[in-house]
Amino acid sequence: MRILGIESSCDDTSVALVEKTKAGFKILSEKTASQIDIHKAYGGVVPEIAARAHADAMLPIVEEVLKNQKKPDCIAVTAGPGLITSLLVGVETAKTLSYLLDIPLVAVNHIEGHIHSVELSALPEADSRVQFPALCLVVSGGHTELILMRDHSDYERIGKTLDDAAGECFDKVAKLVDFDYPGGPKISKAAESGDPNAISFPRPMLDQDNFNFSFAGLKTSALYWLRDHEQQESERYTLNAKRLSDFCASFEQSIVDVLVAKTLSAASIYNPKSILLVGGVSANKKLRETLGSAIQREFPSITYRRSPITHAMDNAAMIAAAGSYAAERESFTPWRSLAADPNWILNSR
Ligand code: KG4
Ligand code: ZN
Repeated sequence: MRILGIESSCDDTSVALVEKTKAGFKILSEKTASQIDIHKAYGGVVPEIAARAHADAMLPIVEEVLKNQKKPDCIAVTAGPGLITSLLVGVETAKTLSYLLDIPLVAVNHIEGHIHSVELSALPEADSRVQFPALCLVVSGGHTELILMRDHSDYERIGKTLDDAAGECFDKVAKLVDFDYPGGPKISKAAESGDPNAISFPRPMLDQDNFNFSFAGLKTSALYWLRDHEQQESERYTLNAKRLSDFCASFEQSIVDVLVAKTLSAASIYNPKSILLVGGVSANKKLRETLGSAIQREFPSITYRRSPITHAMDNAAMIAAAGSYAAERESFTPWRSLAADPNWILNSR
């Protein structure tokens, strides 16, 4: 089966043609246009500008991805959650292609897409399938969730952030120390040479008996520490290299500790066969390694799977992979009834 994936929920316009075989997923062709350079100037994604950039980029990318390829068997498109103006560009493109080319359509939840990115890694056949139940830690700029996945169509959200997402917290704190958007990777880079114990930041929600997160307080603590210890210049703080790396390492350690502790405590209750780390923040080296060694130490029989670094951020290949399961069940949505839903909560299909 060949699936054309389309993703435009935030600030990446992405299209991919993916083939599903018995051996797993093969990406035949893919292209992503990032809008980072456009949004950098504003310090974050501006929805109206994002939608306009998606509209400019979408059709040339579709044309390029489909060039010299056979007609796909189905189209999988992100229908939510995300920015409504951005989602609409992908959804309307998918509907138009479905109508004109007579190809069935599958609506994919963006989170479901991130979860299926683990299947895009090149693994031997026996390993490429997710083992259920799977406990999924989804960490991105827009989401921080723990999802129990019992099958490809059976999801239960067991925890979520009550305010900022982990990636959003990285980005907002990065802005305070004058890193460009998106600041997560820059904090992570600066943290490499820092001391994670230099500053004692809080570990929010660890004392609570649930699987929810909250990162707004941590962001405020980081701001207060900067205000009390560093010089401010036009709303940004300038730190010398050593202080900057210690600040970044301590802040990163606090986020990683919370994400790892909550995931392990959910694992002890739900007894999953695998733990999946996915989403843009899953590219964070410290998080990947710390979660991996904690699982190895405390639950050695649980399989640990991660988004490949190449497909941790938003991309259409993961949407195609997720959509393939609905397509196999013939769970299609007629183009007339497909609608973008900016607040779509991932539930069982
Ligand atoms: O999944 P994604 O591309 O978009 C959303 O669905 O939100 O995630 C983007 C987020 C940004 O907040 C970015 O700062 C964060 O992922 N990110 C990182 C790293 N790489 C990307 N955060 C921390 N460390 C990284 N290495
Ligand atoms: Zn995402």
